[in-house]
Amino acid sequence: MTKVVVGAADQAVVRELRALLAEIEGTEILSIVESSHELSAMVARLKPSVVLLHDALGPQSAPDVVREIVFRSPTTGVLVLNSGMDGDTALLAMEAGAKGVVRYPMGFDDLLSRFEVARQWSERMSGLISGAVADTARDLGRHGRVTVFAGAKGGVGTTTIATHMAIDLQRKVPGTKVCLVDLDLQAGDVSGIIEARQRVSIADVAKVSEDLSAGTILDALVRHESGISLLLAPQQVHESEYVTASAVRAILGLLRQEFDVILVDGGSHATPAQAAAIEVADAAVVVVTADVLAMRSFRRSVQAWEGLGVRSEQELHVVANKVSRDDALTFDALGKLTSASVVSTWLPSAFRSLERSVNSRNPDEIREASWWSALERIGAEIGVSGASAVPTPTSEPKRRGRRRAKAEAGQVAIETVALVPVVALICLLAWQVGLTALAFVWNGHAANAATRAHAIGEDPGAAARDAVPDSMRDSVHVTVLHDGSVTVSTKVPVLCPGCAALPGEISQTSDVVEEP
Ligand SMILES: Nc1ncnc2c1ncn2[C@@H]1O[C@H](COP(=O)(O)OP(=O)(O)OP(=O)(O)O)[C@@H](O)[C@H]1O
Ligand SMILES: [Mg+2]
Repeated sequence: MTKVVVGAADQAVVRELRALLAEIEGTEILSIVESSHELSAMVARLKPSVVLLHDALGPQSAPDVVREIVFRSPTTGVLVLNSGMDGDTALLAMEAGAKGVVRYPMGFDDLLSRFEVARQWSERMSGLISGAVADTARDLGRHGRVTVFAGAKGGVGTTTIATHMAIDLQRKVPGTKVCLVDLDLQAGDVSGIIEARQRVSIADVAKVSEDLSAGTILDALVRHESGISLLLAPQQVHESEYVTASAVRAILGLLRQEFDVILVDGGSHATPAQAAAIEVADAAVVVVTADVLAMRSFRRSVQAWEGLGVRSEQELHVVANKVSRDDALTFDALGKLTSASVVSTWLPSAFRSLERSVNSRNPDEIREASWWSALERIGAEIGVSGASAVPTPTSEPKRRGRRRAKAEAGQVAIETVALVPVVALICLLAWQVGLTALAFVWNGHAANAATRAHAIGEDPGAAARDAVPDSMRDSVHVTVLHDGSVTVSTKVPVLCPGCAALPGEISQTSDVVEEP
């Protein structure tokens, strides 16, 4: 079905177009709008195959409207109905990207033939952009995936992530052809992070983008010692003007045929080049930090991309970088602030190790395996290499926490085992103290009984033994001294042999008071 949007305020023109389009099989009118601004927005949203634009539609001029539509929806073929344009304006409309001019009042055959041209062009263009030419490329053996990284704002770590991920991919899957494109045209700094001697840049390739060949691109690439290929940003900022949206589309299209994985550092500025890359990429990732400023900038970028019809918020991935405990926002809060899919693995703030690697321009200086494995999990979740394996939603800090918790549990177990003898000894000591105190009480009781029995002429020994519990009876020893006093001794049961401070025997002497 060929989807059509009509831009015409004149109702006679609208009626006529409705009638003629109804006769073209497989055609559907999605919308009819009455101003050029409305038309641009509608096209960005609906991405129709064909737009029929009446030249009298205002307030913008027909060439301007065509230019905007082509920018917002490069797969749309625009036909202009000419009811009042002079030859020059018609030519300008064609130069702006119109696929044909239909004279008004129009005949069916005239409209049909031009409509067919626009429709076929749109089909071919959609194929090219979505990578469907891919069929040819795939037949030849390659159809690389393009992932664009854009910063929510400057300095969030976009270049670091794109560059390190490219190197990590190359290292972990040898044989993969990885290309890193520095599309941060204002301040490209891939070569600030890794050692790369620049000869030519993406601007040199863009200059010949109309007539681009694989050879031209391959010549412009710099081979890094890690094995990845680099297409670097221009050193002179003014050169960036050559890198237009259509040049970016053409360059990325060709790179798809030469590489398995193409990672693009799109920078943090919303430029036409960045927008074009985000539009044609298989995945677009916005790098954020967990603070209000970054999230505000993120929102502005999303609004710009949505306004241009480049990509909706839901189609974006968000990666959080430099995450630390001091962040103003928690990682969970990020998910509540956006409908984009927030990658479940984040990158911790790793200032010291990154600083070392930046100073030496050597990412291998980062020895922490956790950094590289986090990048790997992020890449897998986004699907940078086509494998859409979504890892278990963990993040490095969380994992580290879990590991630490495990270690702590182990430590507690070891400490518990070490404490057992100490606790047992304390219990034994307490028990021994208790026994000694009990022996003291019962021995006193026995001594009183023995003294009383002796005073009335009975057996003090028997009285003493009767006064104590059965278990102590055998250990009670009674002695009647010459002066008539009675000594009762009781052995204290020994549970804790080391407790020398406690007596092994309790002995008490009671005097017999003689009645006068
Ligand atoms: N996870 C991190 N922890 C600590 N520092 C980081 C982290 N990621 C990046 N950095 C540091 O932040 C600084 C900016 O990083 P980078 O150049 O990658 O950001 P950028 O978003 O590309 O910036 P620009 O807008 O300038 O292009 C660098 O010094 C880099 O080493
Ligand atoms: Mg950068």
